[in-house]
Amino acid sequence: QKGAYKHFMLKEILEQPEALRNTMRGRIRLGGASPPEIRFGGLEPLMERLASARRLVFCACGTSWHAALVGEYLIEQLAGVNVEVEYASEFRYRNPILARTDGCEDIVVVISQSGETADTLAAAQFARKKGILAIGICNVVGSSIARETDAGIYLHAGPEIGVASTKAFTAQITCLAMLALKLGRYRGAISEEQFEEHVTALLSLPAKMAEIFAQSDKIYEMSRVYRYAHNFLYLGRGYNFPVALEGALKLKEISYIHAEGYAAAEMKHGPIALIDRFMPVVVIAPTSDATYEKLRSNIQEVLARGGSVIAITESDNDDLDAECEYVIKIPKVADFLSPILAVVPLQLLSYHIADMRGCNVDQPRNLAKSVTVE
Ligand code: F6R
Repeated sequence: QKGAYKHFMLKEILEQPEALRNTMRGRIRLGGASPPEIRFGGLEPLMERLASARRLVFCACGTSWHAALVGEYLIEQLAGVNVEVEYASEFRYRNPILARTDGCEDIVVVISQSGETADTLAAAQFARKKGILAIGICNVVGSSIARETDAGIYLHAGPEIGVASTKAFTAQITCLAMLALKLGRYRGAISEEQFEEHVTALLSLPAKMAEIFAQSDKIYEMSRVYRYAHNFLYLGRGYNFPVALEGALKLKEISYIHAEGYAAAEMKHGPIALIDRFMPVVVIAPTSDATYEKLRSNIQEVLARGGSVIAITESDNDDLDAECEYVIKIPKVADFLSPILAVVPLQLLSYHIADMRGCNVDQPRNLAKSVTVE
C-alpha cells in the first residue's frame, strides 16, 4: 500500500534508510569480545572459492547492471578480486570464456531485483550448464533466480512496486559493499582496524541518507526549473560513474526526457559538443573522489559553454556554491559508500520532474516491472 504517498516510487525512495537497515540486519557483528564480522548465511561455505576465484563475472540488466558496475569497483578496490560486468543478454550469446579449474575458477554472480528477468535468469542457467558456480543476489524471495542459482544473498529491501527501481539499487550496492569488505578481510586485503572502520561507516548510512531528505524542498524547486528541458547529461567518475548512468536512466524511464550518463572524462570525446545554455549537466563531485579536481575542471568546461550545472557534493564543501546553478549536499562518507547517498537526490529529481510533467510515475509507458521476455 502506498498510504499517504502520492506514488509508490516516492514511498520507496523515502523508505531507503529502513531498507538499508534491513539489508544489513543480522549480517554485521560489531563490538563485543569477538572481532567484527560480516556473515551471509548462504555464502559462508563458498568463501574460499569466492576469495580465490580467477574472476567474478557479474551479469545483470538495467539498474541492477549499474549496481553491478559499482560492485566491480568495490570488490576490486577493497578485496583485490578481479570482477567483470556483463549485460546478461550479451553474456550468454557470445560464448564467453569461463574457467573451471579448482582454485582458479570463474564464478558468475547474477543480480536482479525481481529475480525474474529473462536474460539474467538465462545467464545463470547458462553458467550452471557449463559447470560454473552461479550465485544470485535478488530481492524477491523464492523468485526463479533465487531457485535456479547455487547459492545467494537476499536484499531484504521489501517489496518494490514502482517500475523505476530505487531502494533495490541502494540495497544491491549495500550488499555488494558488504561482500567486498567480507572478501577483503578474508583475503587479508584490509586490516581488522580498516574493516571495523568501514563497517561502522556502512552502519551510519541509513541516518546519513535521512539527512538528504531534509533538502527535499531544494530538489523540488530545482525540478521545477528544469522540468521542460529536452536533454540532460550526467557525469561522474570512479564509484560514481555508474551513478551517472543510473541518474540518466531514472530520468529517461519515468519523465521521457532524453538523458545520457558518462564517465566525466569522456565528455571531451564527444558529448561536449552538445553543451549549450539549454543543456543541464548533473555532476556527481564528492571531494572524497580521487579525481575531484578533474571533475571541477569538467564543471568549468560546461560553464564556459553556457551549460547549467547541478552539482552533488559533500556538505562541508563550498567550492562549487558560487559557480553552479544548484548544489545538492550529501553527508560526508568514505568514497566507496558515496554512490549509496549520491543517487538519492537524482532519484528525487527524476521523480519530481516526471510528476510535474504529468507522467505516470509508477507505471511508465512501455515498461514492465519484470522483463520476463527477451
Ligand atoms: C530501471 C529498471 C530496470 C530494471 C531491469 C532489471 O529502473 O527498473 O532497468 O532494473 O529491468 O530488473 P531486475 O533487477 O528485476 O532484474
